[in-house]
Amino acid sequence: MKELKVQPIRNGTVIDHIETGMALNVLRILGITGESIKSTISVAMHVRSKKEEWKDIVKIEDRELYAKEVDRIALIAPRATINIIRDFNVAEKRKVRIPEVVRGIVRCSNPNCITNSNEPAETQFSVVRERPLTLKCHYCDRVQSRIEEYIL
Ligand SMILES: Nc1ncnc2c1ncn2[C@@H]1O[C@H](COP(=O)(O)OP(=O)(O)OP(=O)(O)O)[C@@H](O)[C@H]1O
Ligand SMILES: [Mg+2]
Ligand SMILES: [Zn+2]
Repeated sequence: MKELKVQPIRNGTVIDHIETGMALNVLRILGITGESIKSTISVAMHVRSKKEEWKDIVKIEDRELYAKEVDRIALIAPRATINIIRDFNVAEKRKVRIPEVVRGIVRCSNPNCITNSNEPAETQFSVVRERPLTLKCHYCDRVQSRIEEYIL
């Protein structure tokens, strides 16, 4: 029998294969915080993916994600799949993808960087490593990882 951890949803989005521990960061990226919630959200953390592997899952009823939101999720959960649920079935499945250049999603950790000044330029980073995601600032050359702490 198939194990049922949360109720099936009729319409919405299932973000599956999130790196375990990142579900709450995914919610934050999507702007899902206490007072803004308008539909049912289910979060499963540290559930079995494969034998010996763990994942988090986020299920959002009645909402499909914008491409820009999917790009943000890629930065903290590069293995995630975005499943669009329509009438209880998986209507579309998309894999997230880390872009070559990350623009405007992450802030630079260097307080002296021009992007943190009073005349802020849009942030821009190149990807120097994917696992763990490591970015290099186009403006000040600062290299940073632990990107979940710097998502704008
Ligand atoms: N109606 C639904 N309500 C809630 N969750 C659903 C619904 N349909 C599918 N899911 C969940 O969405 C995810 C993707 O479903 P799918 O049937 O494609 O599973 P899968 O074949 O294991 O996919 P994958 O290979 O991406 O792991 C799974 O976590 C599944 O439990
Ligand atoms: Mg699966
Ligand atoms: Zn910088």
